[in-house]
Amino acid sequence: TPNNSSITLLSLTFSIFFMNCSHSDDGSSPQILLLHPFVYFGRSYSQIYVNHNGHLTFEAPWSSYVPQRFPMNGTRDIIAPFWTDLNNAVNGDIYYAQFTSGHLLQQVTQDINEYFPYLKFSAKWIFMATWYGVAYFSNPGSQTTFQAVLTTDGKDSFVLMNYGNLDPTSRSIQAGYDTINSTEYFILPGSFSSNATGNNSVFSHNSNINVPGRWVFRVTHGSAGMTRLSDS
Ligand SMILES: *[C@@H]1O[C@H](CO)[C@@H](O)[C@H](O)[C@H]1NC(C)=O
Ligand SMILES: *[C@@H]1O[C@H](CO)[C@@H](O)[C@H](O)[C@H]1NC(C)=O
Ligand SMILES: *[C@@H]1O[C@H](CO)[C@@H](O)[C@H](O)[C@H]1NC(C)=O
Ligand SMILES: *[C@@H]1O[C@H](CO)[C@@H](O)[C@H](O)[C@H]1NC(C)=O
Repeated sequence: TPNNSSITLLSLTFSIFFMNCSHSDDGSSPQILLLHPFVYFGRSYSQIYVNHNGHLTFEAPWSSYVPQRFPMNGTRDIIAPFWTDLNNAVNGDIYYAQFTSGHLLQQVTQDINEYFPYLKFSAKWIFMATWYGVAYFSNPGSQTTFQAVLTTDGKDSFVLMNYGNLDPTSRSIQAGYDTINSTEYFILPGSFSSNATGNNSVFSHNSNINVPGRWVFRVTHGSAGMTRLSDS
């Protein structure tokens, strides 16, 4: 049964619109062409990949199941709501969908305006990827549920990370985001700690916008020269 924090997940009831990733260990979605370009710290992308091990990449699929600590100083932009070794070949489903109209856009618009009241944001597009009840590798029956939502109004870009039930595991988990050369990155508190998952999960119980289980980031521009947001 879902715990309280799973109510922060955006709806799965429009399942007719959702694509289901293959049930394959370390797999990825095919290239997904975006219905609206998404600007991620100044770089505009028109495609994305949903990687089964809990991350999204833009240039190419990525099978990596060993979470690396941010900042990676690497060569890719990555959004990682829950980077660890998952296996949706044994149980769980990974869905994705994008919308340019409808009530989910209204909901995201309302939410972003609540968290960033000075911006007058109006979502033109959202992309959602949901890992639903997915097993940890070599731990069949375990279930972990989380979601990443990307949205833009054509000017501003945001990433929302939503956490539902996260079964306890001793595996390392990196949650957050990173960029090429790590000019921008964020590490969710609890990453690489025993409090990432389970009943005391920091991801599920804490927030940077005062909604337990939800983390929201404005990812439009780089902020070179400004204080970096990171683990505190
Ligand atoms: C990335 O660079 C930072 C700052 O120079 C450094 O502290 C960190 O260890 C580097 N990370 C990796 C994975 O090389
Ligand atoms: C990343 O760093 C490398 C080496 O310093 C540099 O050549 C490259 O242009 C940088 N890439 C971006 C996108 O900043
Ligand atoms: C994990 O949670 C416990 C109980 O809330 C807390 O005492 C402890 O400091 C936390 N540890 C880390 C590494 O966050
Ligand atoms: C976690 O919470 C569930 C439901 O409240 C409870 O049944 C279970 O014993 C708890 N597990 C731990 C390790 O505390």
